[in-house]
Amino acid sequence: MQNREQWGSKLGFILAASGSAVGLGNIWKYPHMAGENGGGAFTIVYLICILVVGLPIVIAEFVIGRKTQLSPVGAFETVAPKSNWKWVGMLGVASAFVILSFYGVVGGWTLKYTLISLTGGFSQLAGDPEASGTLFDSFIKGALAPILWQIVFMGFTIFVIVQGVKGGIEKWTKIMMPAILVILVVLMIRGLTLPNGTQALDFLFKPKFEDLTASSIVLALGHSFFTLSLGMGTMITYGSYLRKDQNLLSSALWIIFLDTLIAMMAGVAIFATVFAMGADPGAGPGLIFVVLPTIFPKIVGGAIWGTLFFFLLFMAALTSAISILEVITAYFIDEKGWGREKAIIIFGSVVTVVGAFCSLSMGAFNITSFMDISFFDVLDYLSSKYMLPIGGMLTALFVLYRWGVPNFITEMVLGMDDHNINPAVVRILFMVSAAVVGFILLNEIIATITGTPIIG
Ligand code: PHE
Repeated sequence: MQNREQWGSKLGFILAASGSAVGLGNIWKYPHMAGENGGGAFTIVYLICILVVGLPIVIAEFVIGRKTQLSPVGAFETVAPKSNWKWVGMLGVASAFVILSFYGVVGGWTLKYTLISLTGGFSQLAGDPEASGTLFDSFIKGALAPILWQIVFMGFTIFVIVQGVKGGIEKWTKIMMPAILVILVVLMIRGLTLPNGTQALDFLFKPKFEDLTASSIVLALGHSFFTLSLGMGTMITYGSYLRKDQNLLSSALWIIFLDTLIAMMAGVAIFATVFAMGADPGAGPGLIFVVLPTIFPKIVGGAIWGTLFFFLLFMAALTSAISILEVITAYFIDEKGWGREKAIIIFGSVVTVVGAFCSLSMGAFNITSFMDISFFDVLDYLSSKYMLPIGGMLTALFVLYRWGVPNFITEMVLGMDDHNINPAVVRILFMVSAAVVGFILLNEIIATITGTPIIG
């Protein structure tokens, strides 16, 4: 066996893992979810979910990956040989296929919109949501154009991963993550200095608990898995390229901090612009692709801000897509002995083809949709509502009941100066995390079967 690839530096690992976490979930999904679910109230629940459920599972994934130096399937198999736990790893690889199929499609849209903005295309849309809606609809429902953009996006993803862990993933995320932060700061300042822009702060951070419904709690929980790239072994895979000197607790805290900070900054930048221009904050998933293009041209230098924004979204999506494809790649390298290039080219192509069907299901051909929802929505729904939470919950149960908390702590403290970790506290944290997810899953399943959830 060849030597396993390693990250080049501690910072490189933190940036790569936060690059995975920061993506469409932060900049596209979080703002519209907050917009539709009472702003501040949603934000508070989201933060609680991230800390209570997300943090323990991020650490668990890092520890499992670093301990075994293997991607998910091999990792579970090593700690629990000849058991069914490897299926948790398999579920992760399956989730990677599912998520990347639709993620690549939206990744393509971000490229297309960067280009539209760059070439001044938003100027005809100023203040005209209808025209903007028509443009967006006719683009995503087209047969050829969105698939071509998806292929370009997947091409970038493959281009980075083929260069390896340190020479590809780490090198490129080290450039893109700081760029994302700088662009967001610029856009946030631009938004907040527009008249009425500061209303965004009230909207996002002032909790109005009367707006909080049970279904928004369910939504916030599912989203906390998606946004932290949890429950499918992404963080196990990234953790498997670590040496024992990395402090996993502080790394996890950094990643959660950066992921949350970027979601909040994106929310402020977007809503400041929306309020300043009197647009509708509750516009839903179209907030970014439909509403923003109508308001950028009304601001001085709008084409620049628009281009920066969509380019930022593209980079964020790319650093996440890279981590998803790496899960699939690492599986074929570790378990099937394939070379990196072969694994990436073959499975990068497979995912692109499945993704093309996703794109077609937006409207070009209806053959791939069933039950009134498109194939695209099926994949999105399946992964965020079921696959990731199930994977995350099983990972917590794995540490609790199979690997054992003491063994887990022995690996976790390597690289930490201060070893004061209380096993009872760790156990409680994992139990709470698994129980919350278990309850929400049960609630979803009951809601799907009977039509009436316990809460929601
Ligand atoms: N965390 C990414 C985002 O917020 C999505 C993702 C999910 C990436 C699962 C990897 C694994 O967009």
